[in-house]
Amino acid sequence: MAESVSILEHKGFGVTQRRDNWWVKPLLVFIGLSAFGIYSTWAAWQGDNFLFTGHGAYYLSPFYSPQVQLWFGLHLPFSFAFLILWIPLGFRATCYYYRKTYYRAFFADPAACAVGEPKHRHYHGERKFPFILQNIHRYFFYLATIVLLFLWYDAVRAFFFRSAAGHLHFGVGVGSLVMLINVIALSGFSFGCNSLRHLVGGKLDCFSCSRTARARYKIWGKVSILNLRHAEWAWVSLFSVGLTDLYIRLCAMGTLPDVRLFIIK
Ligand code: FES
Repeated sequence: MAESVSILEHKGFGVTQRRDNWWVKPLLVFIGLSAFGIYSTWAAWQGDNFLFTGHGAYYLSPFYSPQVQLWFGLHLPFSFAFLILWIPLGFRATCYYYRKTYYRAFFADPAACAVGEPKHRHYHGERKFPFILQNIHRYFFYLATIVLLFLWYDAVRAFFFRSAAGHLHFGVGVGSLVMLINVIALSGFSFGCNSLRHLVGGKLDCFSCSRTARARYKIWGKVSILNLRHAEWAWVSLFSVGLTDLYIRLCAMGTLPDVRLFIIK
C-alpha cells in the first residue's frame, strides 16, 4: 500500500512495479481509436460514394444518414456528413467507457492503475471545464437514438430492391446483411448506455412499490445486461460502422460487386 502511494506521488512516467504487460491495452486503444478517427474523418470529408444504388439496391452509408441535404435542399461548401457526425462523435466521446479508455490511451492520465503519470497533476475529476462538459452525455444519448432510428430505417430499406419497372422487391444482398449487423451492433452499444439505465431505473426509492416501478425495474435489468458488455459493444459497433461505410463506398466506386443472395419477385 505504501509503495502504491509513492508511485502515485509521481516517481516518473511509466514507473511501476507491475510485471504484466499493462501498456498493451492502452496502446491497442490508441491505435484503434486513431485508425477509426482518421478513416471516419477522411470518409466524411469525401462527400461522395456514400450511396450505392446498383441493380436496384439502396445502401446508404451510416456516416451520411439521415440525408439532411436532400430534405432541405442544402448546397453546402462542405460534406453534409459533418452536419450529422458530431452527434455519434459526441455520444462516444462522452461515453463513460470511452472516457476511461481514452484518458488512459491518449493522456496517460493515468496510463494504467499504479503506473506513474507524465507529470504531477492535481486530480479534479470532471467538475471543471472542459471535462465538466462530459455531463451532457445523456443529451447526446437522446440525439444518437434519433440517428439510430434512421439507421434502422436504412437497414430495413436495404432489404428492398427496385426493379426496372420501379417496383420494390424483398431480397437479400451482402450489403443488406452488412447494414443489418451494423445497426444491431450500434443498438447493442446505445441501449447498454448508463444514461438509459438511469432514465428507466433512476430516481426510484422503491422498485417493488408500484406496477410502474416493477416494470421499470424489469427494463432496467434488461438494459443492465447489455451494459455488462458495454466495452465489447463499443468496439464492435465502432468497427462495424466504419466497415459498413467502407463496404458501401467500395460498391459505389465499382471496386467491389455487391453479391445479391436472392430477390423475391
Ligand atoms: S455510457 Fe457508454 S454510451 Fe452511455
